[in-house]
Amino acid sequence: MMGKGTLLLLALALYHVSWEVGAELSVKMVGDTEVYKADFAEIRCQYNFSENASMVMVQWFVNDPRGKRIRIAYSDLITRSKDENTNYTKRIRVAGDSGEEILTIVNVELSDEREFFCQVDGLAAGIEEGRFHLKVFDPPEHPVIEAVHTGVSVTNDSPSKIATCETSKGFPQPNITWYRNHSLLHKNGQVHVITLVSKDSTGLFTVQSELQYKVTKEDKDSHFFCEVSYYVPGAVRTVESKRVNVSVHYPTTKVEMWRESPQGLVKEGDTVEIRCRGDGNPPSPITFSREQHPDEELEADNDLLVLKEVTRGDSGKYLCRSLDLDSVDYEDVVGNLQVTVHYLDPAVVVPKDSEVMLKGENLTATCNALSSLETKTVWSKNGVEIRKGNVLHLQDATFDTAGHYHCEVTVPSLPGLHTRGSVHIIVQGAPQLRDVKKEVSMSEKVGKWVNLTCEARGFPRPIVTWSISGSPDWREVVRKETEDSVQAVMTLKVSRDTVATCNATNKIGGETKIYTISSIPIIGTTLRNTAVDNSGVIIVVIVLSILLLALLGSILYFLYKKGKLPCGRSGKQEITKEKTNKDDIVMEMKADKTENSVLLKGVNGDNKPPGDQYIDLRK
Ligand SMILES: *[C@@H]1O[C@H](CO)[C@@H](O)[C@H](O)[C@H]1NC(C)=O
Ligand SMILES: *[C@@H]1O[C@H](CO)[C@@H](O)[C@H](O)[C@H]1NC(C)=O
Ligand SMILES: *[C@@H]1O[C@H](CO)[C@@H](O)[C@H](O)[C@H]1NC(C)=O
Ligand SMILES: *[C@@H]1O[C@H](CO)[C@@H](O)[C@H](O)[C@H]1NC(C)=O
Ligand SMILES: *[C@@H]1O[C@H](CO)[C@@H](O)[C@H](O)[C@H]1NC(C)=O
Ligand SMILES: *[C@@H]1O[C@H](CO)[C@@H](O)[C@H](O)[C@H]1NC(C)=O
Ligand SMILES: *[C@@H]1O[C@H](CO)[C@@H](O)[C@H](O)[C@H]1NC(C)=O
Ligand SMILES: *[C@@H]1O[C@H](CO)[C@@H](O)[C@H](O)[C@H]1NC(C)=O
Ligand SMILES: *[C@@H]1O[C@H](CO)[C@@H](O)[C@H](O)[C@H]1NC(C)=O
Repeated sequence: MMGKGTLLLLALALYHVSWEVGAELSVKMVGDTEVYKADFAEIRCQYNFSENASMVMVQWFVNDPRGKRIRIAYSDLITRSKDENTNYTKRIRVAGDSGEEILTIVNVELSDEREFFCQVDGLAAGIEEGRFHLKVFDPPEHPVIEAVHTGVSVTNDSPSKIATCETSKGFPQPNITWYRNHSLLHKNGQVHVITLVSKDSTGLFTVQSELQYKVTKEDKDSHFFCEVSYYVPGAVRTVESKRVNVSVHYPTTKVEMWRESPQGLVKEGDTVEIRCRGDGNPPSPITFSREQHPDEELEADNDLLVLKEVTRGDSGKYLCRSLDLDSVDYEDVVGNLQVTVHYLDPAVVVPKDSEVMLKGENLTATCNALSSLETKTVWSKNGVEIRKGNVLHLQDATFDTAGHYHCEVTVPSLPGLHTRGSVHIIVQGAPQLRDVKKEVSMSEKVGKWVNLTCEARGFPRPIVTWSISGSPDWREVVRKETEDSVQAVMTLKVSRDTVATCNATNKIGGETKIYTISSIPIIGTTLRNTAVDNSGVIIVVIVLSILLLALLGSILYFLYKKGKLPCGRSGKQEITKEKTNKDDIVMEMKADKTENSVLLKGVNGDNKPPGDQYIDLRK
């Protein structure tokens, strides 16, 4: 209490009444003129005489509501007393010194805001009185603000309720002022403030204030608050409420339409999402339509129009219309958006599907695909790009010209669009053998297997046949055929000089390839080097025959000398058995020949030309 008391401003006496009645007497009152409720107040009554007074009487008074003076305390400088049964009996103390009497009021009440009188009676020295006005203060509670929860429309003609603010239990009466953002709202045509002041039994004021304000569109982001101002001893204090905002309703003045997806260019098959939004609050209902049928409402999900799997027919202008109920004149606000759906038709290739060319002929193929955008065409064959552009010139056709040609049409500005086409080129011509060399000569050892290859191209596909004269032991091991080519490999066991002919024909012509194989007989290791040709073999045979004859001669001579010369085959057989290996081989070769010729005949059953054998094999 003391601490609070020291904060109070000291004020000089408000009244100083002095007049001369014989001796001079003057009275002055000083003390705390402004105190907080429940605090204490000290009022000093100072006086002096120009001459010593023989006796002094000091009395303290207040006025009752009717103006009647009521004494609350008195002093004759020796004894100090409180009057009984007054409103102050229990709350005051009186003290004093020479020339000064002190009245202390504890637990100050609002009713203590009044005048206190100090009357000094010096008998012969006269009577004088001082008065002191005490002011009591009680700060109000923190203001409570509440904004309206419903939207406030800018189209309202008069100011609408925005918020209420209340501050309670203050003394003296606090004031409430209103602010928008940071500026004070002065009462005028746009701003009304209704204030309600009430006083409770203890004398405290409660102030309620209602702000009525004509909102504008800018106020959608404005905040409002109230400020409470109240007096405290020696000062004015203010306290602000928290900020509130209101939902401002305003009509739609324009609508905005935009494509949410896809980004960039639209192609057929895409799903297009168009959003339409008005600038009003709350958002007004939106309807969508197409420009050519403005009255046919399109089905939409509120402000989102979804066009699924669009086609070029969906291109055009789309409208969105806001029907604003808030708007006074019910005027439609319309927005529009152009949607262009791009397309690429399937590629059309001319010639269609497949085309037969004659060798040496020229052909121009085209590949076209209709599109709403610029296209790029590329021709390729076997996965390799061969030409840019939609026209493909095939000149001087060869069998290599044949094949599948693909064209791919793309739209550079819209990578999602592409189409393909193809044409199958067939080149008609007489069979053509792969090897330029049509006659091949070679020498091979007897008994060795050799592979002979024959590859031909042509259309219609050539018929490839083998005809073999010479070695009888052969068979075809490989036959690969494509649309316009045949690869045939034949394996043959060389047993004697052989001519193998490969005949490739079709209805346009034919070609043959002839393999001439010279057989190399095997004649032992020592003579192998010389036995490179037929003449060498003959010489060896002659030499061996002479040796045999010499041996035979000497045997005959030996038998003749013994006198036993049997004349029969058994002896010859014995001789044959003793033949050298070399002889054996020669004999074997001969035997093989006869055996195989017989065998061949047996297999084929008749004397068909060898060339037809292969046909049998294929079957
Ligand atoms: C008392 O008297 C003196 C001189 O006469 C004067 O200066 C002073 O102000 C007086 N005090 C009061 C309380 O009247
Ligand atoms: C008042 O009385 C005191 C002593 O009681 C004395 O000293 C003083 O002189 C007197 N003053 C006058 C003005 O008589
Ligand atoms: C004393 O208090 C009562 C009740 O509060 C009131 O009616 C009356 O006027 C007061 N008297 C004075 C002198 O203030
Ligand atoms: C109040 O302030 C907000 C931003 O803080 C602003 O958007 C709004 O326009 C202001 N209100 C007015 C009426 O200026
Ligand atoms: C309250 O308003 C009244 C009237 O405008 C004014 O006289 C008074 O000083 C104000 N009080 C405060 C605490 O501002
Ligand atoms: C008030 O402002 C806050 C934040 O800016 C916002 O989230 C809220 O919706 C506003 N309330 C109203 C009623 O406008
Ligand atoms: C094919 O085109 C070339 C070049 O244009 C030309 O020289 C040639 O005569 C043409 N051949 C035929 C068969 O038209
Ligand atoms: C001949 O061809 C067949 C089949 O391709 C193969 O198995 C064989 O090894 C070949 N022979 C020779 C001597 O190249
Ligand atoms: C190749 O075959 C064709 C048809 O079968 C025949 O007319 C032609 O004479 C044959 N040519 C040779 C060299 O065998």
